[in-house]
Amino acid sequence: MADRLKGKTALIIGAATGIGEAVTRAFAAEGATLVVSYHKASPDAMVAEINASGGQASTVRLDVGDETSVKNAVATVVERHGRLDVAFNNAGILAPIKPLADITAKEFDDTIRVDLRGTFLAMKYEINQMLKNGGGSIINTGSVGSVIANAGLTPYIASKHGVLGLTRSAAIEYAQQGIRVNVLAPGFVETRMTAEWLVDPDLRAVMTAQNSFNRASQPDEIAGMVVYLASDEASFTTGGIFLVDGAQTAI
Ligand SMILES: NC(=O)c1ccc[n+]([C@@H]2O[C@H](COP(=O)([O-])OP(=O)(O)OC[C@H]3O[C@@H](n4cnc5c(N)ncnc54)[C@H](O)[C@@H]3O)[C@@H](O)[C@H]2O)c1
Repeated sequence: MADRLKGKTALIIGAATGIGEAVTRAFAAEGATLVVSYHKASPDAMVAEINASGGQASTVRLDVGDETSVKNAVATVVERHGRLDVAFNNAGILAPIKPLADITAKEFDDTIRVDLRGTFLAMKYEINQMLKNGGGSIINTGSVGSVIANAGLTPYIASKHGVLGLTRSAAIEYAQQGIRVNVLAPGFVETRMTAEWLVDPDLRAVMTAQNSFNRASQPDEIAGMVVYLASDEASFTTGGIFLVDGAQTAI
């Protein structure tokens, strides 16, 4: 176990699977004290594994679109550990893939509720706590969709562009109080979210052709960037967007 996050208490939202799981394991390996949020299935096995190997992790249930739920989760972190130093706001969903004119208002609202409003709510309560404990680092999961568009993904693209706006606004508002806020922007990652695309050989080929490695990345290849942004090594880094995309946006 290294110690780049030793002494820091972190809340990870959307921690049970995919990128969130990889980041949770990486934070634990770097010595952070973790509160791991889940929406549906509690990641008990992962948390037990972390605790058995000398880490410190516990769970909290959270629906990121529900203000009371978010407020309570942040309060739970403080009740358990007295402070909040790092927050990884990683919850995300995709709407059904179709052109804008066919998207229902409900599909739009459902995506915005989790991907954009959820990020806002999380930041609001995390920042209020970080102001009390003298600073912190927030990492919001955006996407390459924070800077470019993909056809058929309007609610998601709008949300992820919005996550960049939330991040930049908060970065300039709270730098003086020691709170850093950045966007992690992955390209194509092999997770539950993209599983359907990966089993269809034609779609897989289209998706992997969008980056210069011509493959999907694995969640472990994303986690190191989040550790860096959470750590004191990134002390001058705020308001940034950190692409981990195999040059998908370089062309
Ligand atoms: N997989 C990719 O190619 C890719 C690319 C760019 C960005 N992302 C983003 O990465 C993040 C993680 O996605 P992933 O690929 O690991 O997929 P995933 O489906 O494994 O993870 C999504 C997480 O969001 C949580 N979540 C969903 N609704 C929630 C709610 N209402 N309240 C609380 N948590 C909720 C889920 O429980 C899950 O832990 C998402 O924000 C996603 O948009 C993924």
